[in-house]
Amino acid sequence: PGLPKEPYRISDKNSFAYVSARDRWPVILTQAVDDVFKHGDSEDSNHRHEGSKIIRQIAQLKFELQHDRLIRPLEDDGGDDIKGYNEELEKLGNPKWFDAPWLFAECYLYRRLNTFFTNSKTWKTHDVFHVQKATAFRSSRAAVLELASRYRQLVSSLKNSEQPTGTKEATEEGEKKLFTDMCEICLWGNATDLSLLTSLTYADLQQLQGSRARKAASKYILDSQVDKVYELLKKQRDEGKVGRVDIVLDNSGFELFVDLIFGGYLLTAGFATEIVFHPKSLPWFVSDVLPGDFTDLINALRDPESDLKFLFSEWSELHTNGKFLLRPNRFWTTAASYWRLPSAAPRLFEDLKQSELVIFKGDLNYRKLTADAAWDPTTDFSEAIGELGKLGSGVRVLALRTCKADVVVGLSEGKDLALRSGDPEEGKRKWAWSGKWAVIQFWDGKL
Ligand code: F6P
Ligand code: MG
Repeated sequence: PGLPKEPYRISDKNSFAYVSARDRWPVILTQAVDDVFKHGDSEDSNHRHEGSKIIRQIAQLKFELQHDRLIRPLEDDGGDDIKGYNEELEKLGNPKWFDAPWLFAECYLYRRLNTFFTNSKTWKTHDVFHVQKATAFRSSRAAVLELASRYRQLVSSLKNSEQPTGTKEATEEGEKKLFTDMCEICLWGNATDLSLLTSLTYADLQQLQGSRARKAASKYILDSQVDKVYELLKKQRDEGKVGRVDIVLDNSGFELFVDLIFGGYLLTAGFATEIVFHPKSLPWFVSDVLPGDFTDLINALRDPESDLKFLFSEWSELHTNGKFLLRPNRFWTTAASYWRLPSAAPRLFEDLKQSELVIFKGDLNYRKLTADAAWDPTTDFSEAIGELGKLGSGVRVLALRTCKADVVVGLSEGKDLALRSGDPEEGKRKWAWSGKWAVIQFWDGKL
């Protein structure tokens, strides 16, 4: 373990960066073209005309990527993040696509795509991934119903504070188990993001979401510090110091659903007084949550016939009463890793210090926490997250991440090698690409 190495680059043929740029991004761009085509078809001529222009722009972007051209500066669309992207590009020496750092190039890709829409008149707020997100959420219905009814029982027994039978120790053991379960449900909700759907089917998705799959999945958590988090929150509750918990969201649909379940559980169990959710501000990595997805999800639960109606009233009430808060910030859609959070977004950093616990969901957040660098996999989590991992950083960081990229830290000696062995391509960390393995890692920056 030691110094951060270089960030992963697309040129590294052993990395998932290379596979992503070569195989996945062109598919994602093609799907974007299809979406614009379908939506442009039914609207007025101005809209259609601008739609054709956007399609050409997407095709050009795809061409530049696939032919390894220079990454060009972003066109100004009035966003105050454009300057940062273009300065970064210059600092990197204006690379070609396949020479760029993975994290930068991938964030740039989504931001560039977004400028085609923001620079139009009639497509400004169009979410090019909306249909995909909605379809995927509908296909999660079985898992949603299953979790909803479990949650309903749980909340009503917590609210009626049913006297548990048995000793204090047994009760605490039960609570700890429940907390761990809830945390793991929230974790595995991340296994199924849509940017990987270029290789997974909806049937695979459904399988990954059921409770049986989840139980079997515990053994795939490589490093779990969930106990530390439970002890901390319990201590704070015992001492009457309960406060705010933040969730830096990742994907909408099923993952957002489990995030709300987890948030609702933390409130009901007395581990938090409010939950602040951080969504993205532009269509991002296909499935990430936009503010509109949040309201869409709550409205989708309106169905008067089912257990879901209970969730609708529960969550819209929490939203109205300010216990569920939505707090967007443009920093989340810059290409900056979170090593730069204190300097690049000082106000956001101060805000996160007001929280008792900041939960970072998913793979991209993990890549940003660890600067997407080629760390030795046994490096301490605290070391890999830079400023945030210092003593007294002021932020308590909890990462709930299923692995979909090369970077990983906090593993025991030899674990990475063991996971690679048997793979005919041992030079690659392929085990870490599919969302099958996960980590729950924690750093207490308030110590
Ligand atoms: O590794 C594939 C990938 O699309 C990455 O590019 C990105 O970091 C990640 O998956 C997105 O996953 P998540 O939604 O968990 O952040
Ligand atoms: Mg995502």
